[in-house]
Amino acid sequence: DLKFHEMLKPLSWLFGKWQSTDGKGIYPNVADFTYSEEATFLPVEMKPVVEYKMHSWKTENRMPMHRETGYIKIQPNTNHVAFVAAHIMGVVEIQEGEINGQELCVESKNVGRTSFNSPPEVKLVRRFLRRSGNELEQVIDMQTDKTSLTEHLRITFKRVD
Ligand code: HEM
Repeated sequence: DLKFHEMLKPLSWLFGKWQSTDGKGIYPNVADFTYSEEATFLPVEMKPVVEYKMHSWKTENRMPMHRETGYIKIQPNTNHVAFVAAHIMGVVEIQEGEINGQELCVESKNVGRTSFNSPPEVKLVRRFLRRSGNELEQVIDMQTDKTSLTEHLRITFKRVD
């Protein structure tokens, strides 16, 4: 079993490795797509911080798709949580929100991008995560400079490790 900082207890339901082959992607003016994804959430030794990674690929041909990585922090002695996220396409964001039992919802408080990113600009990402038994559901809504807050991704992972 993983040793972790006691402050991380409200997040311990996330820890481990998760996989799915049935992700569903949608967005206005984007053709619907399906994807596979692996997610790992691992507590950093002795620190009240979780390191996470999410890698996705096209289920039919394993072509790499989106990747993100970062750190999850908890405001001491609260249920306030922050994802410090770096995305492969040159976007970084800090998402904040609350943990409630075995679910959490966070949304971007800051978004940064490279000076040479292609449009559209990501304005806000909202992440919903919920564990039920050995399943972990994630829904991502996104707002860009062209499109109001709309669902982009929906996936249910199974625990593999
Ligand atoms: C499109 C952002 C995760 C697959 C887009 C667009 C943006 C975006 C800004 C362009 C939308 C438009 O043209 O109006 C993000 C962000 C993500 C994320 C911020 C994570 C929080 C993912 C994941 C996948 C994915 C996990 C697949 C596994 C796609 C595809 C398109 C797209 C296939 C349409 C084609 C393209 O523009 O490349 N995404 N995305 N995205 N996204 Fe995501």
